[in-house]
Amino acid sequence: MCGIVGYVGTEEAKDIIIDGLRRLEYRGYDSAGIAIVNDGSIIVRKHVGEIINLEKLIGNEKISGNIGIGHTRWATHGAPSDLNSHPHLNEANSIAIVHNGIVENYIELKAMLKEKHNVSFKTETDSEVIAMLIGAYYEGDLKEALLKAVSIIRGAYAIAAVAADNPNELVAHRKDAPLIVGIGKGCNFVASDFSALVKHTDDVYLLENDDTVILTRDSIKILDANEKQVQRTLMHIGWSAEAAEKGGHEHFMMKEILEQPAVVKETIKRRLNEDGIIEFDEIKIGLNELKSFDKIYIVACGTAYHAGLIGRYAIENMVKIPVEVDVASEFRYRNPLVDEKTLFIAISQSGETSDTLAAIKEAKGKGARILSIINVVGSSVARESDDVIYTWAGPEIAVASTKAFITQIVCLHMLSLYMGRLVGTISNRHYEEFISEMLKMPEKIDEVLANRSEIEEYAKDLYSREKVFYIGRGLDSAVCLEGSLKLKEISYINSFAIAAGELKHGTIALMDPDTIVIALATQDKLYEKMLSNIQEVKSRRAHVITITKDKNRSISDSSDETIYIPDCLDELTPLLSVVPLQLFAYYVAKERECNIDKPKNLAKSVTVE
Ligand code: G6P
Repeated sequence: MCGIVGYVGTEEAKDIIIDGLRRLEYRGYDSAGIAIVNDGSIIVRKHVGEIINLEKLIGNEKISGNIGIGHTRWATHGAPSDLNSHPHLNEANSIAIVHNGIVENYIELKAMLKEKHNVSFKTETDSEVIAMLIGAYYEGDLKEALLKAVSIIRGAYAIAAVAADNPNELVAHRKDAPLIVGIGKGCNFVASDFSALVKHTDDVYLLENDDTVILTRDSIKILDANEKQVQRTLMHIGWSAEAAEKGGHEHFMMKEILEQPAVVKETIKRRLNEDGIIEFDEIKIGLNELKSFDKIYIVACGTAYHAGLIGRYAIENMVKIPVEVDVASEFRYRNPLVDEKTLFIAISQSGETSDTLAAIKEAKGKGARILSIINVVGSSVARESDDVIYTWAGPEIAVASTKAFITQIVCLHMLSLYMGRLVGTISNRHYEEFISEMLKMPEKIDEVLANRSEIEEYAKDLYSREKVFYIGRGLDSAVCLEGSLKLKEISYINSFAIAAGELKHGTIALMDPDTIVIALATQDKLYEKMLSNIQEVKSRRAHVITITKDKNRSISDSSDETIYIPDCLDELTPLLSVVPLQLFAYYVAKERECNIDKPKNLAKSVTVE
């Protein structure tokens, strides 16, 4: 979705802003642009399509200036076009703005601006009214004009603005759209997300709703909704610039798949004290409150929803509270039975998914306690939550989520162990055994990764098939959904996941020799049932790849191919079984020459409903 970068300092703003925009590319966009204050005027260059188009447009043109703003746009109001791209200018070309979000009353504001201020609009966007409004109110103080403008705008917005006659000051404001301030040395930044700044700083201020920030190269002044100067929490992010680079890999997705052992280790380590006890400093729920919950909702979208399905098993087993899992886009439209006795767990990699945010607001409004599991520090979901568990997966750039998913599962296990121990629903022995098994997982994930060439071979044989089914029971059925989503997302193959027991109720009619069935048979209790399901599809001549534990060697007779994962507790198999599925999707997409990191029609963070 849209991205913002703003810079004020001593270096060439153009280069820094374009580099920042590149780092936001993963969010998805359809045009990009920059505005640089140069010698009393503003130079705007913008182009539809990828950032490379913008760079080609600029070519060798010297656009000098130490202050500027940039934007990647995801069209909402007005088609993707050079004209509709941001930044937008006011009538006199003396103010430039970039905007994320929506101006809901833009039609009414447009009419008012035309009538009272005689301005003529050049674009079809809602955002242009912001530039025009600031321009109409500007009397030498950009902050004053911006505040006046936002006082009559309805909607959600993060705005950054510069004025031609003030090459020292950048002003920004946020309401219901993320915006952070990056603290540099002899320079300062604003950005819609930290990835844009990873090369320049590790320290940021997280702006709150209705905050305004006035940046110069050596000062940062933050005003709250009452225009009172305030100090916001300084966050040290701890992501290295290298973590957001491909590091010699062809794709971010492969890099992120290979990082999974390390991030799982990190996620566990951050919460385990010297005595092997899980500590969640970030959770402030007391024992009495925990005991008062009679229901837990887990709500999320896409991959995070699949992690939630796995979390349900973990929490119900360890904490003995009923858990419902919902996709966020459905949750609030079914009048969910939420009250003060509900713990609402939101899961989101980006922390910006609009449906998840809306579901949180719905649950909050009904009195639920909100706990979120997210990867991006300071994101909107974090702000809306009472308690936040960070997954510490590091920057995830590929649109298809991999390492974030695996750390979400780890967090859910740790949360259920933590709560179970607190309320006394699990024994000390079980608690200790589980943690000791969890600590072995990074090494076991490494073992699965070591066999990736085998999966690459299968992908080379099968990549041209157009029909793939994922079948499994219990926890495996949740992993199947994730495997199928990965394949759809990046290879565009029509794939479908189904609980294996449901096959006979219709789907089995689709089995034929062109069908690939990926069968997960990792659950000891359900192993024999899965064997029967595998036989069922095999006898319809589907091509079967089975994923099972190392000890189940006999299954190879019933499958065309078998992928073995190391033996482990049934509860922990998703951390291993998802890896071959991620790899299969990756290698198939590679054979099909798809754009793996940025699949068509998808965005990393979906900030519209
Ligand atoms: C988008 C992405 C998915 C992701 C989902 C939820 O649809 O393409 O890969 O799982 O959003 O994102 P979140 O950031 O909330 O986890």
